[in-house]
Amino acid sequence: CRVLVLISGNGSNLQAIIDGCDDNLQAEVVGVVSNKPDAYGLVRAHHSEIDTSCVIAHQGETRANYDVRLKQAIDKYQADLIVLAGFMRILSDEFVQQFEGRMINIHPSLLPKYPGLNTHQRAIDNSDSEHGASVHFVTPELDAGPVILQAKVPVYPEDDATILAERVHEQEHAIYPLVVKWFSQNRLAMKNGIALLDGNPL
Ligand code: GRF
Repeated sequence: CRVLVLISGNGSNLQAIIDGCDDNLQAEVVGVVSNKPDAYGLVRAHHSEIDTSCVIAHQGETRANYDVRLKQAIDKYQADLIVLAGFMRILSDEFVQQFEGRMINIHPSLLPKYPGLNTHQRAIDNSDSEHGASVHFVTPELDAGPVILQAKVPVYPEDDATILAERVHEQEHAIYPLVVKWFSQNRLAMKNGIALLDGNPL
């Protein structure tokens, strides 16, 4: 399974997936695409001798135009699976539809709670006792695609957003490579807006 990872930043989830693929001979990260030239994830890719591309948005460029260029950059890798790992751009419906059932994202909340940004602070502000991360198929509506796998963490009264984010990140690094593995083993699918593992709804 040829895996293409989209990033904008640190790339710790990218690293977890690269490491996971070392133990999973069915999947290989064949490329990393960033919208930010200084994303540390690009350095991680170079260390692992993975090809990288950078697609930087031009000033005033429309989303549709950017997404066409992004698609061109992705297509050269002939990937089976597109993995969003901290890619901080909203993707157009047209772009998302081209990868239906083979594009996944990780979001730092227990979806459907807290789509969007600042999820850790929002969990603290609402005095939630648990928080976590979700891997889901990407559909046109932001952070609303069918959930594949979640991991929960406790929230303690003394937590701030930084500490809570670290706790969530640790879980992200466990669940994201596992989902990539399932996909590479052909165990995962999306049908009629429902995520299936081995044909059973998740
Ligand atoms: C993660 O918290 C992920 O859930 C969110 O963006 C962050 C990316 O972190 N979508 P990293 O770049 O993988 O370290």
